[in-house]
Amino acid sequence: MNEVRVGALAEIDDPGCREFTVGDGDWPFRGFVVRRGAAVYAYENYCMHVGHPLNWVPGKFLTGDNTAIVCASHGALYAIDTGECFSGPCKGDSLRRVACEVRNGDVWVTVAA
Ligand code: FES
Repeated sequence: MNEVRVGALAEIDDPGCREFTVGDGDWPFRGFVVRRGAAVYAYENYCMHVGHPLNWVPGKFLTGDNTAIVCASHGALYAIDTGECFSGPCKGDSLRRVACEVRNGDVWVTVAA
């Protein structure tokens, strides 16, 4: 297991996101956290539709009104708190969740590797 500090919670927009990678080489694990108030959720950056990264713009994973995670490729919408797709081509599938916690004001993720 690899535990990685993503950053200080206070540095992440509310609501907002921050990307992270774990590991080196051409294929590190790529993920992102979503902050909403004091809550933080973390997912692999992998759309369940055809496996593209969800975002085209660095750190940009939310809809314009910040109410859902959106895949930039074909518009799938995922719930921020569960990762479940509720609209789009992969409706019913869920993003792969990453273990995440806030400790002493810092956001940490744990990735199996
Ligand atoms: S790759 Fe995400 S909706 Fe198609």
